[in-house]
Amino acid sequence: MRVAIIGTGYVGLTTGVCLAFMGHTVSCLDSDEAKIKALWEGKIPIFEPFLEEVFHEALVNLTFTSTYAEAIPEAEVVFIAVGTPPTPSGAPNLEFLSQAARSIGQHITRDFVVVVNKSTVPIGSGNWVDSLLREAVASRADRSAVQFAVASNPEFLREGSALHDSLYPDRIVIGADEPRALEVLYTLYRPILDQTFTPPNFLPRPETVGAVPLLSTDLASAELIKYAANAFLALKISFINEIGLVAERVGANISEVGRGIGLDSRIGPRFLSAGIGWGGSCFGKDTAALIATAGEYGLHLPIVEAAKKINSRQRDRVVEKLLNELKILKGRTVGLLGLAFKPNTDDLREAPAIEIAQKLIDRGVRVKAHDPIAMEKFEQVYGKMGVQLCQNAEQVVEDCDAVVLVTEWNDYRELDWETLAKKMRAPLILDGRHTLDREKLTRAGVRYVSLS
Ligand SMILES: NC(=O)c1ccc[n+]([C@@H]2O[C@H](COP(=O)([O-])OP(=O)(O)OC[C@H]3O[C@@H](n4cnc5c(N)ncnc54)[C@H](O)[C@@H]3O)[C@@H](O)[C@H]2O)c1
Repeated sequence: MRVAIIGTGYVGLTTGVCLAFMGHTVSCLDSDEAKIKALWEGKIPIFEPFLEEVFHEALVNLTFTSTYAEAIPEAEVVFIAVGTPPTPSGAPNLEFLSQAARSIGQHITRDFVVVVNKSTVPIGSGNWVDSLLREAVASRADRSAVQFAVASNPEFLREGSALHDSLYPDRIVIGADEPRALEVLYTLYRPILDQTFTPPNFLPRPETVGAVPLLSTDLASAELIKYAANAFLALKISFINEIGLVAERVGANISEVGRGIGLDSRIGPRFLSAGIGWGGSCFGKDTAALIATAGEYGLHLPIVEAAKKINSRQRDRVVEKLLNELKILKGRTVGLLGLAFKPNTDDLREAPAIEIAQKLIDRGVRVKAHDPIAMEKFEQVYGKMGVQLCQNAEQVVEDCDAVVLVTEWNDYRELDWETLAKKMRAPLILDGRHTLDREKLTRAGVRYVSLS
């Protein structure tokens, strides 16, 4: 099928590349011309494991453009995957979405096109995009043959394993009020739903993966599923962090408590690691948007609100713990291991490291940091914000009064703390992710502290 993807960020580019890998002809469109130029040159503008490899295998089916007139007229399916960043009120900024919808409406020509909201958008956005498309089409002289339907196809990929999640998803949700739209998307996704494609050598199909469930719903249900899923994951993390406070007071081990809870098949083991809490572009934004949407209907969501508060408190607890250990923060040097909001991505949006660094700098601390992948992006986005960037963990720990493990990159699990401890002014580690081996560190002469 012929597909256009609007927005070539983490979601749009991954979706475009995977659909091209399935044999569809895909035009990736982005208003950022530098991204499009890079893609034509074979350069991937984001870090995502295996994206480059799948991209090269699918290249024969891919084109890139910044021009709607090039991407849209031939397309049978148009995905909108533009950003929906938060506004101060918590409601998402829908400016990019509305620009994209209007531009699509100005250029669709086929007798039936499915326009798909893949961006995470508030409930009711399907109807809104439909009205924007209608207005744009109505303003054209050549509108007679054009027909379209809007569908919602929320994205559940996780940055850091986006390719795996797109090829082997837990489920595909399609919200559509028009049956023809569902038929078109069923055909588009069939190789993934039936798992009939030949997997790339470097991303083999897990043995446990069979046919992928397709959940077909109305538009509003699909939109709500996305927000409810993210809110649930966010509150699972905040729940274990709240229990972590109790564990700390009563002398229990929160990692063992998390394991003990998660072995209950009704609960499941994932998202039960206590620590600094969530970051990234989705959980914070999507919980805020859900609260804002509920507010429009006069509803309060105390559980989701509490999850947000607890998450923000975890950042403060890093500073409190350091204060508790070091007594005076002014004039101290603190090293941060990890800047990206989680391992295996270069994404710094709402990364805890940024907030923690700022809180420490505000208290007169000299902050040093390292990240295996995200340092270049950090410099591009934040300048240096007063943080000394280091080439490796060895440089970070040098002359530090404390080191905080912020992002649980694998590289940091393997560090030789016997050697590193000698380079620190005071060998103190605050393990923000319950990831390091407490006994090994203690044997190496490091004082090991965790958040709970
Ligand atoms: N990143 C994730 O893990 C993830 C997961 C699920 C859902 N989502 C949702 O998917 C959407 C996209 O997220 P992302 O992380 O890929 O964002 P992103 O910021 O990485 O990418 C968005 C892209 O859209 C482009 N763009 C903006 N306006 C445009 C326009 N009018 N025309 C063409 N291009 C335009 C931008 O230049 C950018 O490249 C968001 O709604 C997000 O909430 C993200």
